[in-house]
Amino acid sequence: METILVKGRYRNSRILVGEKLELLEEHLPEEEVYIVTDGHVKQLYGDELPDFPVYVMEPGEAAKTPGTVSHICQWLINEEAGRDAFLLGIGGGVVCDVTGFAASVYMRGIDFGFVATTLLAQVDAALGGKNGVNLDGFKNIMGTFNQPRFVVCSTAMLHTLPEKELQNGLAEAVKHTLIADKRMFNEIRERADDIIALDDEMIKKLVSHSIRVKSDIVGRDEIEEGERRKLNLGHTWGHAVEKTDGIPHGQAVSIGMVFAATLSEEKGLLKPQERQELINLLHSLDLPLQSFTPAEKVFQALARDKKRKGTHVHFVLMNGIGDVVVEAISLEEIGAFARTIEKNM
Ligand SMILES: NC(=O)c1ccc[n+]([C@@H]2O[C@H](COP(=O)([O-])OP(=O)(O)OC[C@H]3O[C@@H](n4cnc5c(N)ncnc54)[C@H](O)[C@@H]3O)[C@@H](O)[C@H]2O)c1
Ligand SMILES: [Zn+2]
Repeated sequence: METILVKGRYRNSRILVGEKLELLEEHLPEEEVYIVTDGHVKQLYGDELPDFPVYVMEPGEAAKTPGTVSHICQWLINEEAGRDAFLLGIGGGVVCDVTGFAASVYMRGIDFGFVATTLLAQVDAALGGKNGVNLDGFKNIMGTFNQPRFVVCSTAMLHTLPEKELQNGLAEAVKHTLIADKRMFNEIRERADDIIALDDEMIKKLVSHSIRVKSDIVGRDEIEEGERRKLNLGHTWGHAVEKTDGIPHGQAVSIGMVFAATLSEEKGLLKPQERQELINLLHSLDLPLQSFTPAEKVFQALARDKKRKGTHVHFVLMNGIGDVVVEAISLEEIGAFARTIEKNM
């Protein structure tokens, strides 16, 4: 088991990689612990959960709503949970986001922690202190910045994860290597098969490298004023592909990273061979490289994004492998570039 300390603006968080579910109680207060999980996790691990009251939410993104947060607060009231209560979220990114938000608002804030049970939650969603819920189709529109007391990344629980969920996490883990960890990028290239087979030593290494990259960036910019934008590598184009193709987030980010790499090569920041290495790696992890929707249509979805203001986007470009730069690029330039890749396909 490895412990990584994450320094937040208001408080620190401990990330425990590889900690077993049965040892969880060592990290919890003795009483007043309330567990939030979802139906899938409850079904698979219900017998192994510590002996505290459990709120079971519907699995999936559709339950990431203020309504679920209200239900959890009502449940806590019924349970007579006071200010000293501790809320423990056990699940993927959805459970962690909802739990973090509910704990941040119940009685103006109670303590909380996570057991991250998906690869995506372990390498991304459970880290960084952002939490929130969706409203009227706007993703994460309500939320807070608040660090959990601890995050347990139980790599053993990943063995029950469906393959497409594993892929979602892998895409974000590759993203972290592109941002700041060339050595890990090369190691994933060499050991892609071990990763897919969930070799324990390799997965723990991948998870802890990802945690270090993300927490290092968040430590320098907790509330997204600049540095944290680097984490959006592959996401500007990826979010648009997620909408047009209706594919899972990680797959869309994979396509978005290829787009960012192609644009970076065009701008002379990335060598053709480096772009090819990325493509080969994503391919070996069975991640997609290209959208079904023509690039021009994807661009239209990107430009339509309701949350976007102005004529420019903060686009994350790759500066070789293991380094990125954020540049304000005009929508016009992205549109023109999308049309050229269309022609070359
Ligand atoms: N707060 C952040 O900084 C941040 C960052 C990235 C993503 N997110 C959010 O994370 C969410 C996505 O997270 P996710 O991909 O973990 O989704 P998820 O929580 O919906 O989990 C995916 C599926 O896997 C199931 N599952 C969970 N653990 C399992 C296990 N061990 N075995 C078998 N099945 C299991 C879940 O029930 C669900 O059906 C999104 O809402 C996204 O917005 C937040
Ligand atoms: Zn993402």
